[in-house]
Amino acid sequence: MNPYNPGSGVPPRFLAGREAEVGAFDLLVARTERSMPARPMVLSGLRGVGRTVLLNRLKGIADHHGWLTIKLEGRPGADGARDIRRTLARELQVASRRFVSQIGIEPVKRFLSTVTSFGATVRVEGISLGVDIDNTRATTGFIDIDLHDVVEDVSLALRSLKKGFAIFIDEMQDVDDDLLAALVTVQHFAVQNELPFFVTGAGLPDLPARLADARSYAERLFDYRQIGRLSVHQAEESLTVPASQMGQSYSPEALETLLDASGRYPYFIQEFGSAMWEVAAKSPFTGEEAAMAARIGRQRLDAGFFPSRWDRATPRERDYMDAMAQDGDEPSNTGALAVRMGVKANRLGPTRARLISKGLIYSPEYGQVAFTVPGMAAFIERQHHELGDPTS
Ligand SMILES: Nc1ncnc2c1ncn2[C@@H]1O[C@H](COP(=O)(O)OP(=O)(O)O)[C@@H](O)[C@H]1O
Ligand SMILES: [Mg+2]
Repeated sequence: MNPYNPGSGVPPRFLAGREAEVGAFDLLVARTERSMPARPMVLSGLRGVGRTVLLNRLKGIADHHGWLTIKLEGRPGADGARDIRRTLARELQVASRRFVSQIGIEPVKRFLSTVTSFGATVRVEGISLGVDIDNTRATTGFIDIDLHDVVEDVSLALRSLKKGFAIFIDEMQDVDDDLLAALVTVQHFAVQNELPFFVTGAGLPDLPARLADARSYAERLFDYRQIGRLSVHQAEESLTVPASQMGQSYSPEALETLLDASGRYPYFIQEFGSAMWEVAAKSPFTGEEAAMAARIGRQRLDAGFFPSRWDRATPRERDYMDAMAQDGDEPSNTGALAVRMGVKANRLGPTRARLISKGLIYSPEYGQVAFTVPGMAAFIERQHHELGDPTS
């Protein structure tokens, strides 16, 4: 009966806040249906703030309106680059097929040929869409050109149906340079030609900078939204609404304790709310029970959320994060880290790059690094204390 859902990408029972983003996306859909231009959206923030569930919510809106939608996820490295192309081609086929079952084959025949051709080009096992392959579209093997063909043909057909074509990309900062540039370029093309095509991205706080690096006009192309911790009111709601749906309530002291312990970060709120539910003997939940829930919640984070990241690092990478932890959750200057560690700055380059590709840190600005999850520095400190480490 526990109404809280800690877990990556697990939708909360009550999505607190985010009205602005949901409203902006509703507007995008409404404008598209009236053949009016709209700006695609990019969500960025730290891990655990709720980017994935928000992205999925936006996709749900587009699906609800009968749009052709696809969901992708960026992963670093050559494998990630190959896989995301194949997923794109496969998902295009699946989505096209679903679309045909809704509206019949006639209005979309042309783009089905292009989608089939794109599948052959990136070598996915085709599911037949019941049309001949178009040997003149999406066949070059250059992702920018092929993606252009696909987007043009699909969104032209959708425009006449007053619907849109939307690609949702999670962990977009990990998409390879070629595909990222191709996506920005084709989004730009769509805006200029009034085609109802929308990339909606979610990623770490450096995603806007990565997009601008790919194409400088990306800065004006997207509607950038920073997703962060909840306001006091929203954080309270995210605790009280699920509880009240189950006939339970919080005392003001209990609420204050959990808001404090969670720092109002959505993932942590779910974890502490879940512990609260297990600890509480009766309703309203008391401050004392909340203090116990906070201890249990913290133990769970220290046994799961944080180590699942820390354990991925090598000893050398941990030394680097140790040095970063001295700055708390604030960004660290890379030069200062080198001094702290007593090594030359350029020797730390590879370690930093590996930590970035593992998604443990990111670069908020040139010459700076920061943790991708809130509270990582404090976790590292706690570990040293537990181990009785004399250096801390
Ligand atoms: N707006 C919100 N209100 C309440 N809980 C949320 C909200 N957004 C996310 N959560 C919860 O936070 C956790 C992390 O969400 P997720 O989307 O995986 O974060 P991210 O993708 O940013 O790392 C999940 O347990 C989810 O249920
Ligand atoms: Mg996520």
